[in-house]
Amino acid sequence: MRRPFIAGNWKMNLNIEEATTLASALAQQTASFRNVDIAIAPTHLALSSVINAVKNTGIHVASQNHYFEESGAYTGQVSPTMLRAAGVAYALVGHSERRTLFNESLAEVNKKMQAAFQAGLLPILCVGETLAERNQNSAESVIKEQIETALDGLSADQVAAVTIAYEPVWAIGTGITASPRDAQQIHAFIRKLLVDRYPAFVAEDVRIQYGGSVKPHNAAELLAQPDIDGALVGGASLTVDAFVGILHAITETQG
Ligand code: PGA
Repeated sequence: MRRPFIAGNWKMNLNIEEATTLASALAQQTASFRNVDIAIAPTHLALSSVINAVKNTGIHVASQNHYFEESGAYTGQVSPTMLRAAGVAYALVGHSERRTLFNESLAEVNKKMQAAFQAGLLPILCVGETLAERNQNSAESVIKEQIETALDGLSADQVAAVTIAYEPVWAIGTGITASPRDAQQIHAFIRKLLVDRYPAFVAEDVRIQYGGSVKPHNAAELLAQPDIDGALVGGASLTVDAFVGILHAITETQG
């Protein structure tokens, strides 16, 4: 059985003080959720302080982005080894905002996946189609290309440790979610891709999160789908009530 995994992507929100306050509140209010993995991804600037605030709790800390080199003359970049040394456990890779706003290429996403593993970070690989791509019936081919290029060169054991976040671009920050049925269809498609390319344990182990306007009121229905193993949450991860509300919804689906 895959353990549900809920991650909050705080994006470029919350300064050090605000991030630490939220992390401390979550540390207190999530102690009872024992059957779900939880991660939060603050701005780089707040990582140390947030890591400190959630120490010895079940909450893991994720980074939002990293460069693929280990060190050197790369002004403004942060390396995965630095993040690991700071206590970061998970690394978001290939979020659609990075792909579209910062022109992150498929090749770059692959390098970041490899660099994450080399540093000991567990990647959360974000994939998803735009509305235009969905309307052209090319959602599956877009996602297939994003996944195959991102996982290229990784061993089966490494792929088994990846979390894939399916985030339809048109659902991110819009208040529109994919219907549970449509989301399940893509999640099943992603799992089939893994079945076709890797030994059976890989597709059984990989957790596939849904992302895109996940809120307390829609989380249970999404998470009840057989191939939806968790959620990557943006807006609703910025307040204790909404994030904890999502955790409650998920616990309900577990019975
Ligand atoms: P949202 O963001 O929940 O605000 O739609 C999701 C994401 O970008 O990961």
